[in-house]
Amino acid sequence: MGSMVSIYFLTDHKEMKDQTRIYSLFFVGLALVSFLINIAQHYNFGVMGEYLTKRIREQMISKILTFEIGWFDSDENSSGAICAQLAQDANVVRSLVGDRMSLVIQTASAVLIACIMSLAIAWRLALVMIVVQPLIIICFYARRTLLKSMSKKSLQAQSECSKLAVEAVANLRTVTAFSSQDRILRLFDQAQKGPRKESIRQSWFAGRLSTSMSILRCVWALTFWYGGILMAQHRLTSKALFQTFLILISTGRVIADAGSMTTDLAKGADAVTSVFSTIDRKTEIDPDNPEGYKPKNLEGKVDITEIDFAYPSRPDLIIFKGFSLSIQPGKSTALVGQSGSGKSTIIGLIERFHDPLVGTIEIDGIGIKTYSLRALRKHIGLVSQEPTPFAGTIRENIVYGTETATEEETQSAARYANAHDFISSLKDGYDTWCGERGVQLSGGQKRRTATARAILKQPAILLLDEATSALDSQSEKVVQEALDRVMVGRTSVVVAHRLSTIQNCDLITVLEKGIVVEKGTHASLMAKGPSGTYFGLVNLQQGGSHH
Ligand SMILES: Nc1ncnc2c1ncn2[C@@H]1O[C@H](COP(=O)(O)OP(=O)(O)O)[C@@H](O)[C@H]1O
Ligand SMILES: [Mg+2]
Repeated sequence: MGSMVSIYFLTDHKEMKDQTRIYSLFFVGLALVSFLINIAQHYNFGVMGEYLTKRIREQMISKILTFEIGWFDSDENSSGAICAQLAQDANVVRSLVGDRMSLVIQTASAVLIACIMSLAIAWRLALVMIVVQPLIIICFYARRTLLKSMSKKSLQAQSECSKLAVEAVANLRTVTAFSSQDRILRLFDQAQKGPRKESIRQSWFAGRLSTSMSILRCVWALTFWYGGILMAQHRLTSKALFQTFLILISTGRVIADAGSMTTDLAKGADAVTSVFSTIDRKTEIDPDNPEGYKPKNLEGKVDITEIDFAYPSRPDLIIFKGFSLSIQPGKSTALVGQSGSGKSTIIGLIERFHDPLVGTIEIDGIGIKTYSLRALRKHIGLVSQEPTPFAGTIRENIVYGTETATEEETQSAARYANAHDFISSLKDGYDTWCGERGVQLSGGQKRRTATARAILKQPAILLLDEATSALDSQSEKVVQEALDRVMVGRTSVVVAHRLSTIQNCDLITVLEKGIVVEKGTHASLMAKGPSGTYFGLVNLQQGGSHH
C-alpha cells in the first residue's frame, strides 16, 4: 500500500496509469482470496466450537452427577445456578475458542508478517516503530485487567438472575397461588440492578481507557518526525517511508481490534475457570470407587456407632453428637419423633448421601466407606416423601435402576405395590407418559409407582421416609398395605408421621433433637404410661383424629 501511495508521486502519467491498474487488480484478487480464507476459517472454528460445547456440557454433567449430595446443598450450586452454568459458560468457552481464537491467530500472523516486511523495507524506521508498539499493547492490557475484575461481578449477578428465574418457574404454582409475581419481579429487578450498574460503569471505564488511542497518534507523530530525519540524511526514500508507515499503522489497527476484544476474553477466562473448577473438582463421596467392595448379597444389618454429624452447608448446626443406633437384619425399625429431629438425616446417612464427621456406619459389619457405593446402593431401596416421576413412561419409571427386569417382573412388582390397577386403567397403560409433559399422577399414585420401583429392586434394606405421609386415608391404606407386604423378611427403616402405621414394627426408636430417648415395641412403650414420650405422641395424634 505504501508503494501504491508513492505511485501518485510518479512523474510519468502513463506509468502512473499502468501501475494503478496493476494495483487495482491486485487488490481485487486479494479481496477474493481473503474472502475464501475467511469462510474456511470460520467454518472450521465454528465446527470445532460446536464440538467443544458438546464435550464440555457432557463432561460437566457427568461430573456433577458424581458429586456428593452435600455439594448440591450449598447456595452457589442450586439447580438454577447449575443450569445457568451449563447453558452459559459452555457457550462462552465456545465463543472464546470458535470466534476469538481465529481472531487471535489472524492478529498474530498479521503482526508477524508486518514486522518482517517493514524490517526488510526500512529497518531503522521499522525498529523504532516496533519498539513503541508494546506501549500500545500495555495500554490495552491495563484495560483488560481492570475490566476483568468487573466482568466477574457482572457474571455473578447474571447467574443470580437465572437462579431466580428457574426457581420461580419451578415453583410456579406457589408463585401463582400466592400472587407473588410482583415480589419475584421486584427481586429480579434488584438482581439486575447489579449488572446494569456494572455495565454502565464498565462502559465508562472503557471509554476513558480508550484514550489509549491517543497514544497511537503520538506514535504516528514520532514516526513522521524520525522518518523526516532519516530522509534528510538520505537514508530513506519517500516510498519506503510510506510503505513502512502504512504497514505498521495497519498493524496497530489490528492490535487495537484485538485489544478491544479483550473484554470478551476476560469474560471467557472467567467462564473457563468456572467450567474447569467444576470438571476438576474431586467428589468427596465417589460412587464408582473401583477398589470398593461389591457385595453379592446383603444381610442388612446396620450399625451406626458414635457418630457426629452436621450438614456441610450448615457446619455449626450439630444434628448428631455421639449418636448410635443398631438396626437388626430382617427386622423393621421405626424412627419417630418431631419434625426436625433427624429422621431423614439417618436415612441419608445409611444411603451415604453424606459422611459422618466422626464415628462409623457399618453395614453387615463392614464400614460403609469400604463398599463400592454403586454396588451397595443396588441393595438399598428408598421410597421418599415426595417421589417425582422422571419424564418417561410409567414402565420406565418402574424399571429405573433395574433395567434388566422382564415385563412379567415389572407387572408383578406393580401388583405388589397396588399400582397395577390404576396403571391398567390409564389409556396407554404402562406406556403412559409421565413427568412434566405427561399425565399428572396423584400423590398416592406416585408413591405406589415408587414402591413398585423399590420392590423390583428386591433390596436387602428398605428405607421408607414418610412414604405414606400427606396422603388421604384411602390412598394411605393402599400404599401402607403394599409397603407392609414388601417389608416382610427385609431390613426396613420406616419413618412415619402417622404413628398408627408403625405399630407393628419390631422396634420403635423415638428421637428427640438427634438423641434416642426411647426404644421398644409399641406395647412396651405404651406400657410406660403418661411419662413416656412415645405415649405422649400417640395420645396427641389420637386426640387430634377424634375431632
Ligand atoms: N440439606 C440440609 N442442609 C442443612 N441442614 C439440613 C438439611 N436437611 C436437614 N437439615 C437440618 O437437619 C435437622 C434434621 O432434619 P431432618 O433429618 O430432615 O429431620 P426430620 O426428617 O426428622 O424431620 C433439621 O434441623 C434441619 O433443619
Ligand atoms: Mg424428614
